[in-house]
Amino acid sequence: MDYQKILNTINDELSYRDVTGKVASYIPELAKVDPRKFGMHVYCGDRQHFSFGDSEELFSIQSISKVFSLSMAMRLMGEDLWDRVDVEPSGDPFNSLSQLEYESGVPRNPFINAGALVISDILVDQLENPKQELLDFVRKITQDNSINFDPKIATSERSTGYRNVALVNYMKALGNIKCEVEPIVDFYFHLCSLAMSCKQLAQAFMIFANKGRILGTNEEILTPTTVKRINSLMQTCGFYDEAGEFSFEVGLPGKSGVGGGIVAIHPDQYSVAVWSPILNEKGNSELGMKALERLTTLTGLSVF
Ligand code: DON
Repeated sequence: MDYQKILNTINDELSYRDVTGKVASYIPELAKVDPRKFGMHVYCGDRQHFSFGDSEELFSIQSISKVFSLSMAMRLMGEDLWDRVDVEPSGDPFNSLSQLEYESGVPRNPFINAGALVISDILVDQLENPKQELLDFVRKITQDNSINFDPKIATSERSTGYRNVALVNYMKALGNIKCEVEPIVDFYFHLCSLAMSCKQLAQAFMIFANKGRILGTNEEILTPTTVKRINSLMQTCGFYDEAGEFSFEVGLPGKSGVGGGIVAIHPDQYSVAVWSPILNEKGNSELGMKALERLTTLTGLSVF
């Protein structure tokens, strides 16, 4: 398979000029990003790299990081985790509060904000220095020690994060939060502020395409069962109320963030990350989804 040729075709076919969405603006710092940015990176199981455009530029990965925090929580709690958070698609926007009331404070899945906040509570409760341990985990699976938080984004999230603070308070009132609100939201805002490039994201997500092992060192980070569960959740819940559309168009497990990044994996084949900050009305990268649809169509390969 000539992945570089396929990526070049995607780069030639698609342009930010052809999409109609808008860059996220509810977090002021995100609104400053250049909407013309576009990059893509494929990392293959034979350790070859292919890319185009702004694939090595750092951007705010936002909710993509919820896959990292879920992985850490599964390593700590195993299957007991599912008493605190469910595994069903929500069909609702990522920051919705409404289902929590009639579902007793148990979020539908770990990728909506409510679910990621319960996961944050677990990590803050069980780890001595959760922010540092998150960085250590992401640096290890990426095999890149330069990865860090973007402090401007973290501050910007905090200044506008009233819905997230409300979600934690509400779930605490309903008995599904152990720690105090402040350390949980502090961890969560930092989690969302991780800055990574498409290349780094593709490297990090290779563990989900490689049965939980780091490609190269072969070190096991997650068990094959944990990887099966996380990939299933990415397939059914990785794009909020657009998970069906992404599955239909692209046919790979993946995860998006409001910074305009999307990561997807093809088990035993490759991991891929794409970045274009212009979002559709569901909060997913408009050009990113098109690029991944072209990738699975031009390669003729998807999980289905
Ligand atoms: O909490 C928020 O609203 C953002 N920090 C993260 C949202 C996000 O990326 C959801 N995704 N598509």
